[in-house]
Amino acid sequence: MSIAALMDSMDYGPAPESATAAEAWLEARSRRLGLFIDGGWHRPGDGNWFASINPATGQKLAEVAQASAADVDVAVAAARTAQAGWAKLGGHGRARFLYALARLVQKHARLLAVLETLDNGKPIRETRDIDIPLVARHFYHHAGWAQLIDSEFPDHRPLGVAGQIIPWNFPLLMLAWKIAPALAAGNTVVLKPAEETSLTALLFAELCAEAGLPKGVVNIVTGDGAVGEMIVRHAGIDKIAFTGSTEVGRLIRAATAGSGKKLSLELGGKSPFLLFEDADLDAAIEGLVDAIWFNQGQVCCAGSRLLVQESIAEKAYAHLRARMETLRVGDPLDKCTDIGAIISPRQRDRIDALVQNGVAEGAALWRPATAMPASGCFYPPTLLANAEPSMTVAQEEIFGPVLVGMTFRTPAEAVALANNTRYGLAASIWSENINLALDIAPKLKAGVVWVNCTNQFDAASGFGGYRESGFGREGGREGMLEYLSPAPPSAAKPRKPGKAAGRPSAIPAIDRTPKLYIGGQQARPDSGYSRDVFDIQGRLLARVADGNRKDIRNAVEAARKAEGWSTGQGHSRAQILYYCAENLSARASEFAARLSAMTGQPAGAARQEVEASIQRLFSAAAWADKYDGAVHNPPLRGVVLAMNEPLGILGIVCPDEMPLLSFTSLWAAAVAMGNRVIVVPSERHPLAATDFYQVLDTSDMPAGVVNIVTGGSKDLAKTLAEHHEVDALWYFGDAAGIAMVEQASADDLKQTWTEPAGRRDWHNAAQGEGRLFLQRATQVKNIWIPYGA
Ligand code: NAI
Repeated sequence: MSIAALMDSMDYGPAPESATAAEAWLEARSRRLGLFIDGGWHRPGDGNWFASINPATGQKLAEVAQASAADVDVAVAAARTAQAGWAKLGGHGRARFLYALARLVQKHARLLAVLETLDNGKPIRETRDIDIPLVARHFYHHAGWAQLIDSEFPDHRPLGVAGQIIPWNFPLLMLAWKIAPALAAGNTVVLKPAEETSLTALLFAELCAEAGLPKGVVNIVTGDGAVGEMIVRHAGIDKIAFTGSTEVGRLIRAATAGSGKKLSLELGGKSPFLLFEDADLDAAIEGLVDAIWFNQGQVCCAGSRLLVQESIAEKAYAHLRARMETLRVGDPLDKCTDIGAIISPRQRDRIDALVQNGVAEGAALWRPATAMPASGCFYPPTLLANAEPSMTVAQEEIFGPVLVGMTFRTPAEAVALANNTRYGLAASIWSENINLALDIAPKLKAGVVWVNCTNQFDAASGFGGYRESGFGREGGREGMLEYLSPAPPSAAKPRKPGKAAGRPSAIPAIDRTPKLYIGGQQARPDSGYSRDVFDIQGRLLARVADGNRKDIRNAVEAARKAEGWSTGQGHSRAQILYYCAENLSARASEFAARLSAMTGQPAGAARQEVEASIQRLFSAAAWADKYDGAVHNPPLRGVVLAMNEPLGILGIVCPDEMPLLSFTSLWAAAVAMGNRVIVVPSERHPLAATDFYQVLDTSDMPAGVVNIVTGGSKDLAKTLAEHHEVDALWYFGDAAGIAMVEQASADDLKQTWTEPAGRRDWHNAAQGEGRLFLQRATQVKNIWIPYGA
């Protein structure tokens, strides 16, 4: 074509990136790549290999090892052996290695980008300008955390060996998100890339060797989901970090239940893109293109649900369709390509089946007249407008270049529609009215909110979801905490039973039967039964209500109605907690006598427990307006507000030890952070909690914020774990209870904090209050706000 003709059409010429260096790299390895274990390369034990395919051409790039169970054993053993030395190297030593890895990623950036594009099918523009620079940034940032580990995370230690399983959509970036914090914290890793995209992980393994990383610190085992499962179930692993589908996330939660393995899950999403009538429409449509067509829409946080205000819907769809006409689908190595290949025919078929389903359910299908490549695995940019919130395509993650659109009228309706999903990964708000945007952002149930931008990622800002999008964060301080454990609480000293406080005769042998405390009122148990409570000598002391499933349901209902507590101010919460302390103090001797009668502890010890509980309420009140978030400065013109948000409705199952102090320490911390709680007090010594009803009644605690259900701890814990409106569950009990709670909460991927009872010395402020409790009671929402023109 002549230059004049080109000027006329303004068409793009082809601008292919050369694949020569990447092909040469593969050739030099005879297109066969083994397992990277203990610093060396190994053939798979079972002799099985599988193909890694270029989805844009269908051609085989290389053969990759299918690890056997024995290979996984060897990798885990190598990581275990290496761990002590790696931890001992200290923060600075590890920082130097992480820095070296960052530098090596930069030195080999183009090779990594091209290899990634060949293996995954994503446009070279994205691998070159987004994936690989973010990988380098992640290693630099975490070199910093390693350097600062002693000062910023005192009294923390590494977990040990981390098993990490990643998906195919951002192969090297997900590797970096997993490996960098793990290594910075002093862990060693066994990582499994997705079977579709192993190549850049294996090139990275070479970079580890080049950096002189001690052998066994990073081990890369390749293979399919079966290998992932071997890692998940391996007894030699202390932490599992997974990114992938919600289905597999759920399986992993169930498989690790009760194993003591720490778990973080980054799962699917159906993220809303809220387009308000006062948005800068041109910018918003560009944002929308990025939200849903970046990486062919194979992005967990893709803005796949367009919610557009009705008043501008027609105009917005017209703009969008015009912009879609200009999208170029084709060779991922071409620098002018916007939309590359879909990872596999299986994924393409899945996308297409969902689109067909959307059409059958009544959505309006529209596609531009984009030229499609004659071969390879591609899918056209697709719009499904006029969708209804209940349609499958509006609820299911499509994970492809398909936008589902619907309209709203008012901001309140926008929020309701946005939150009408079981996921909660990300959201994007477009409005020139910053008041509106910042009013909406906290109302969205999502781990990341982008204001007038989308798909922004940075190592300094945690990324992760609410609800069925998983739990845990990657990046930032909170991401580091996923790879650290606080110094273990020293075992609580057993307190010998002694002379009881007060005059036991002042406590009648058989007391009145306390009811449950639900919605600010005493409520009879649904079962109509009560449970006997014995003193330490086995004498019947009282009877308490025997709560059941129905009572938990009522308590959750009451907690739901108390939503205002979660959106209110820390200052007001503090005042009420101080008031509780004041009222407990006024009745200190009565509570001490009760404790003494129940647990047989000496008078002095019982008084100390009450005194410590009063102090604990003070601490919770003190924190209520001080557990601030952070403002991050990512490398863009803008800020990221990292806000600590309450989890919502929290179940708390208390241990038997220190029945007033453990109970108070737990619920007060949770409530201080804005949660509404359903507390199951000590099964054995519940009376301190039932006496507390009156303290709550006289302290202006709003109805439904603290609900107390006495009864069998395990049964009630199971009901709480299975209840879909309970957002998180804290459980202190025995190993069987812990396993049950983790298993039962797999269905809706509830966050859990489980700990064997009897471990904490609740009297010790370092173990009974503070940041750990607050961190467990909150989740971080990162709100990105760019500024400037
Ligand atoms: P997947 O969840 O099966 O695969 C992700 C990783 O998990 C891979 O490394 C895989 O080998 C491994 N894996 C599979 N089964 C496992 C098991 N039982 N135990 C341990 N590890 C296991 O996702 P897949 O099949 O590649 O894609 C299916 C759908 O999942 C996609 O269509 C998409 O909707 C969603 N997905 C979401 C991702 C996200 O980042 N949110 C990433 C990848 C897929």
